[in-house]
Amino acid sequence: MTEHAPISLSQFLIEEQRAKGQINADLRRLIKVVASACKRISIAVSKGALGGVLGNLGTTNVQGEAQKKLDVLSNEILLQANEWGGHLAAIASEEMDDPHPIPHRYPKGEYLLVFDPLDGSSNIDVNVSVGTIFSVLRCPDGVVEPDESAFLQRGVEQVAAGYAVYGPSTQLVLTLGDGVNVFTLDREQGSFTLTERNTKIPEETSEFAINMSNQRHWEAPMQRYVSELVAGKTGPRERDFNMRWVASMVADVHRILTRGGIFMYPVDEKCRAAGGRLRLMYEANPMALIVEQAGGAATNGLGRILEIQPQKLHQRVPVILGSRREVERVTAYHQD
Ligand code: F6P
Ligand code: MN
Repeated sequence: MTEHAPISLSQFLIEEQRAKGQINADLRRLIKVVASACKRISIAVSKGALGGVLGNLGTTNVQGEAQKKLDVLSNEILLQANEWGGHLAAIASEEMDDPHPIPHRYPKGEYLLVFDPLDGSSNIDVNVSVGTIFSVLRCPDGVVEPDESAFLQRGVEQVAAGYAVYGPSTQLVLTLGDGVNVFTLDREQGSFTLTERNTKIPEETSEFAINMSNQRHWEAPMQRYVSELVAGKTGPRERDFNMRWVASMVADVHRILTRGGIFMYPVDEKCRAAGGRLRLMYEANPMALIVEQAGGAATNGLGRILEIQPQKLHQRVPVILGSRREVERVTAYHQD
């Protein structure tokens, strides 16, 4: 084998285990099973109109959002892949009201898996990138039949987190709590190959991501921050900023991981009653761990997202994450 032989996800996980000892065989299996489910979702997504999977199903989820056929299919793919292997104690999904218990016919393991099966699904029908976000927690000691309360752990407790982005290529971004590594799906080989080791988000950025149509609903600190960015060279920041908004959190975060930037979904008048727009357990926590592990920062405007004690499985939070300097600035404006 040459020095540059590609490293598969399997090889990477085994080498991490040998070098650092922080992943056991069950966690390794869990990650591989999630990765292979993402591969199946990637295939379903890429079939597009030919797969008969576009459009709405005619149902709504617990969040009151219209479910796409691919939302439900992705959820089923992840459930089926993960429930029989013996590595999980229970599963929770953005698309299900309550945690999914492991059927009694299968053995149970020590981990809890949480996922947003298809993030950004409003983008499916227009052929724009979507993704899967996941988070792994430990089942609390002594809990045999985990219910919602078993999942209500702070983001700092996550054992692993990751996302798959289904774009022009499918990539898997993974953290086991010790840096962030990026794998790209080799469609011919059918396997994920390590393509970037120990990714870091640039500290400084000139790019921001926010849904500007909500501007009139924002609170004063967000109004101040964004108006300073938009003022550009002639404003207090004395330089120009660029804006991007895909409206798939996975795609927006992936851009920031790749070339820097700041992503914001603040609390505003429209979503104040719900606590925010994005989900703490399925979106904010896993992305916050990835971003922090890549050297960035993630807050809800007041403090670290990873330190929020969840009260509910489907809880929503304001999210500000990305390049450290900018996140610190917006957070300071809120603290003023
Ligand atoms: O899952 C929620 C989500 O689709 C995110 O992926 C995305 O960042 C956001 O909502 C888009 O919100 P909006 O529709 O306000 O642009
Ligand atoms: Mn989502």
